[in-house]
This record gives sequence, C-alpha cells and structure tokens, in this order.
Amino acid sequence: MTTHPSEKQSRFDPEPLPRRDFLGLFALGSMAAAFALSIFGMLKLPKAAVSASPAKKFNVALPDTLPEGEPFVPPGRNVAVFRDGEGVFAISTVCTHLGCIVKTSAAGFDCPCHGSGFQKDGTVRKGPAPTPLPWLKVSKNGSILTIDEEATVKTGTKV
Ligand code: FES
Repeated sequence: MTTHPSEKQSRFDPEPLPRRDFLGLFALGSMAAAFALSIFGMLKLPKAAVSASPAKKFNVALPDTLPEGEPFVPPGRNVAVFRDGEGVFAISTVCTHLGCIVKTSAAGFDCPCHGSGFQKDGTVRKGPAPTPLPWLKVSKNGSILTIDEEATVKTGTKV
C-alpha cells in the first residue's frame, strides 16, 4: 500500500521492499542455505573404515585330529597347511593365474574363477594357471607353527 508523500508513515505501513532488493536477499538466503546444507552433508559423510591388514606372519596350531595329507586352512588366511609322515608344510591358496583364492578339493585345489586346478602339492593339474602354488616358509616351535605368507621356500620343504 502506498502512502501519500505528505502523510506520515505508520509503523504498520512500512516502506515496500523494492523487487530488486527482494530478489537479491532471496539469492543470498539461498546461497547461505546451500552452503549450510553442504557443510551438513560433508559432516555426515561416512568415515573411512580402514582396518589394518593382518600380519603376513602368523602362528597357528594344527588340530590334533587333522588326518595326514588333509589341508587345514586357518580362518582368515590364504594358506593350506598339511601334515604328513615327513613333516609339516604350507601352500599358498592364492591362484597363480589372477589371484583368486583356490578352494581345497579331493584332487587338491580348484580355482573358482577360471577353472585352474592344482594337485595337493600345488603343481598345476589344469590351466590357465601358469605356475604351481608356492610353498610358504614354516617354522616350528613345539606344537606352534609360524607361517610367513611373504616368504616362499622350495617345493617339498617340510619342517
Ligand atoms: S584366477 Fe585362478 S584360474 Fe584364473
């Protein structure tokens, strides 16, 4: 409502806000709201859930009931441990083709990814795996075995 210039303005009849000022204030308000929402969104970002990878050298005790020639895969490890009449040895269960984890089977190991097969001593039974599964370094302290997943030994090395 406009007032006549000679009339005194009432406080209930304020000066109208010019359209340009209104749009400017609206733009500033929108910008502030977008900024505040983006900050809020960044605070709600998921926190990195990085856990340290387990040590590659670990101790394990073979179950007393483990039959000779049968694999024992320690939980959470990519290793199969065997006991036979000559000693104990460990074979990596990481496929030498593209790194999938092989599964133990009656014939030895089978890779679920591309069909490679390995015998119980890790030699390739069928491709496409180019090389045998590596034997890993095992040391023995009483009934405790220490297996180093990063150290390989010559095939046939038993402790
Ligand atoms: S990764 Fe095992 S056969 Fe390809």
